[in-house]
Parts: sequence; structure tokens; C-alpha cells
Amino acid sequence: MAAKNILVTGGAGYIGSHTVLQLLQEGFCVVVVDNLDNSSEEAIRRVVQLAGDAGKNLSFAKVDLRDKEELNKVFASKKFDAVIHFAGLKAVGESVQKPLLYYNNNLVGTITLLEAMTAHGCKKLVFSSSATVYGWPKQVPCTEELPLSAANPYGRTKLVIEDICRDIQKSDSEWKIILLRYFNPVGAHPSGCIGEDPHGTPNNLMPFIQQVAVGRRSALTVYGTDYSTKDGTGVRDYIHVVDLADGHIAALGKLFQDNCIGCEVYNLGTGKGTSVLEIVTAFEKASGKKIPLIMASRRPGDAEIVYASTEKAEHELKWRAKHGIMEMCRDQWNWASRNPWGYGSPESHS
Ligand code: NAD
Ligand code: UFG
Repeated sequence: MAAKNILVTGGAGYIGSHTVLQLLQEGFCVVVVDNLDNSSEEAIRRVVQLAGDAGKNLSFAKVDLRDKEELNKVFASKKFDAVIHFAGLKAVGESVQKPLLYYNNNLVGTITLLEAMTAHGCKKLVFSSSATVYGWPKQVPCTEELPLSAANPYGRTKLVIEDICRDIQKSDSEWKIILLRYFNPVGAHPSGCIGEDPHGTPNNLMPFIQQVAVGRRSALTVYGTDYSTKDGTGVRDYIHVVDLADGHIAALGKLFQDNCIGCEVYNLGTGKGTSVLEIVTAFEKASGKKIPLIMASRRPGDAEIVYASTEKAEHELKWRAKHGIMEMCRDQWNWASRNPWGYGSPESHS
């Protein structure tokens, strides 16, 4: 059987690059579309190296999804069997400061993509949604049926895109769509060659800890020590990015094998909650580095405890996360210590 062609938007980014590598290893042919707004072409080069022989099945187009003409050229170049759509802006704080940037990039980008897919008869989609759509969940673990809300423009783009997907599937039953709600992706490929390299000050916990460990920042600020949790700090469901990438392979499998699927949503998490202080302790153990802490008040908009119900994904996608917190920290440190400046250099980060 001929290898399936997958278009991956945002494939040069953190989760995208790990997923592209796994797609190549599973025998798919991949075309990445990315405008490199928050990533580097070096990630693509490293994925090609890591994939060995299968690296020849990857091609890259530096295209902004909102550029209809260029995007249509990509679709005209090949018949795609499915699209995995990672591309989007994701910094919560920035989305509050610049809502139009987020609505334009994430919504217009997605609509342009869906129009191009329709025009070229490609109607299978996996979309990167987020646990952010659960807001401050009324109960944990978060099941897929919980009420949804948006605490900021970034989260609202995820809610709107989920709705758009449900609407287009209702309008045309040929569409098969899987919405994946990621919990907190961390870690890196065990080779230490690819990992997360955020531009600017990291918003998220693990990249911040990593930059303290390599000496780029002096201390971690712990946001909130008075939550009703085991040690007073916020609790999240951290998931190894390699497990998350596997979840996309499982989702594609479902799209190709299940004729009855319409638009389905799955959580991708581990089902386990870990506090900020527990992560710090695990990272210190994995790296042998001390992480100085500054205890501070809560970060506005943060929930107290968020972790996934994993039953639906386990049952219907036959997928479950395999890695624990220590492996996540070990692989994060392996990437960080080999690449203290990510894909760049001290100059490129100054
Ligand atoms: P990332 O920033 O590393 O990757 C996103 C990629 O999309 C980048 O390479 C960026 O250059 C590209 N991109 C952005 N706008 C584009 C556009 N208009 N056209 C073409 N390319 C564009 O982020 P990530 O962590 O890999 O996240 C991937 C997806 O998963 C995002 O949609 C994000 O919202 C979602 N998500 C991430 C997390 C997380 O904590 N990392 C959690 C939940 C959901
Ligand atoms: N935290 C700190 N200090 C920091 C950064 C984070 O104490 O410098 C704490 C937060 O208060 C929270 C926990 O670490 O308790 C995790 O925070 P992150 O910012 O890493 O993750 P969030 O769960 O707040 O949000 C992330 C993404 C969202 C996404 C969500 C679910 O930023 O976009 O995970 O996937 F929607």
C-alpha cells in the first residue's frame, strides 16, 4: 500500500517536530507548513537526521497559513490523506495584550486551512486543542463532557475552532475530525536533539525551570502557595511530548480506520496531578542542579488543580501515556544541557 501523505501545519514547533519524527518513523510521508514565527528550520533539519532513511519523506514549506495563494500551491503539489494542524500562537499573557493578533493568526489561519482542505478534497483533520477549554474545572479528573469556558483570547480561539470543526462536520458528513485536548506537554526526544525552544521569556513552568538550570535565569517564581493542594502550589497533568506525539499517530489511525467517526474529542494527558514543587524536586534530582525559588502570589487566571480523565482515549484510541515525571525531567534536562540556547546561540537570544 502506498504511504499516506500527511500535511502538518506548525511542524517546526515543539509538539509538531516530535510528531513529525514519529510520523516518518511510522512510514508516513510528511509535508510541513510553518511560518517559523516561533520556531527554527534547524528543528526540521534535526528531525531529518534523526529519521535516518525515512528523512527523505519529509519536505518543508515556509508558508503562513493565512497566505491563501501559497497554501493552495502546497495542496496542489500532492494529494493529502489527512492534516494535523498544530500551527497557532499559544502565549496566554500575550493573547490578553494582543487579542486581535491571536484572533487573526489562529482563527483566520484555521479558516484558510479548512477552505483549502475543502477545495482540494482533503477532509480528515487532527486539531491541537487544549485543556485550557476546561477553564477552572468544576471537577477533576476532567472528562471530555465537562462544560467549556475561555479565560483569555487564546483559550477562546481554541473554543471557536472546536465549534467551527463541529459545524463543518455537521454540514458535510465526509469530514472526519479529531480534536485533541492536550494537558501540559513537557520533556523532549530522548536523543536530546529536538526539544522546546520558546522565543522570549517562557510562560510555562518547565521551559522556565530549564532556563534557570542552565544559568540563563536566576530563579523560578512559584505562582501561588496557598492553593488547596498537597503543598499549596498548583497541580497539573504533565505529559511527555513523545507520548503526546504517539497520541497523534493513534488519532490518525482512528481517522483512517473508523468509518463512523464524525467530529470526536479526546483528552491527551496522564490522569495524574503533580504540583509545582514536586516538578521542581524531580527536576533537581534529574539534573543535579539547584533551582532557586521565589515564592509569589497566584498568577491571574490560573486554575488550582487540572488533570485529565484518560479513559476515552485509552478505550477508543487504544493509547495511553507511558512516561512518568522522572523520565520527563530526565529528557528535558538532556535536551537543555546539550542545547542550553535551544536551536540558537546566546546572540540569537539577546
Ligand atoms: P509552538 O509555538 O512550538 O509551535 C507552533 C508552530 O506554529 C510554530 O512553529 C509556529 O512558527 C507555527 N505557526 C504559528 N502561526 C502560524 C501561521 N499563521 N502559519 C504557519 N505557521 C504558524 O507550539 P507547540 O507547543 O508546539 O503547540 C502546538 C499546538 O498545540 C498549538 O496550537 C498550541 O496552541 C497547542 N497546545 C500547546 C500546548 C503547550 O503547552 N505546548 C498545550 C495545549 C495546546
Ligand atoms: N508556574 C509557576 N511559575 C512559572 C510558570 C508556571 O509557578 O514561571 C505554575 C503555574 O502557576 C501553574 C503551573 O506552574 O500552577 C503550570 O503552569 P504552566 O504555565 O506551565 O501551564 P498552565 O497549565 O498554566 O497552562 C498551559 C498552557 C496553556 C494550556 C494549558 C493546558 O500555557 O496554553 O497548559 O494545556 F492551555
